Amino acid sequence: MTDHALRDGLAQPGKRDFLYIVTGVAAAGAVGGLVWPFIDQMNPASDTLALASVETDYSKVALGQQVVVKWRGKPVFIRHRTPQEIAAAVADDHADLRDPATDASRHKPGMAEWLIVIGVCTHLGCVPTFGEGEYKGWLCPCHGSVYDTSGRIRKGPAPKNLYLPDYAFLPAGKVKLG
Ligand code: FES
Repeated sequence: MTDHALRDGLAQPGKRDFLYIVTGVAAAGAVGGLVWPFIDQMNPASDTLALASVETDYSKVALGQQVVVKWRGKPVFIRHRTPQEIAAAVADDHADLRDPATDASRHKPGMAEWLIVIGVCTHLGCVPTFGEGEYKGWLCPCHGSVYDTSGRIRKGPAPKNLYLPDYAFLPAGKVKLG
């Protein structure tokens, strides 16, 4: 499927520099604070079933940026992590984690700079924003769940880490979701 880079600069002023990409037939629009209905995950409509597999070019995502790709009706964050983000995540591998997981278990081997997570808070389905919160990962604006730079839940009501989609890296800087 062809990618459609719609716009960039969704980040809040001076804090982040997001490049926003929507892949598929519908533009997602601004995502901050939206609730992503879990029912959509359980019972996808026919148009989202048609998007069961999506290819996107991740190679142009600059260090420290992320793109958002719409996949099966949900936002997926493809984040190009900085060495500092990776180091912070690895340093907390053995911290007291609510949903224990090492950072290495959350990315492909040898690809620590690329973290790909489903951008839906595991509490009630809002879309977290990057760069805020105590751990400088994602912060959910709805009830304050705090995720670290590995997408692991660290504070707030969310019970689980940000979920990982099925994906595979392809040649020529492409990644296939699903
Ligand atoms: Fe994210 Fe409640 S939906 S904290």
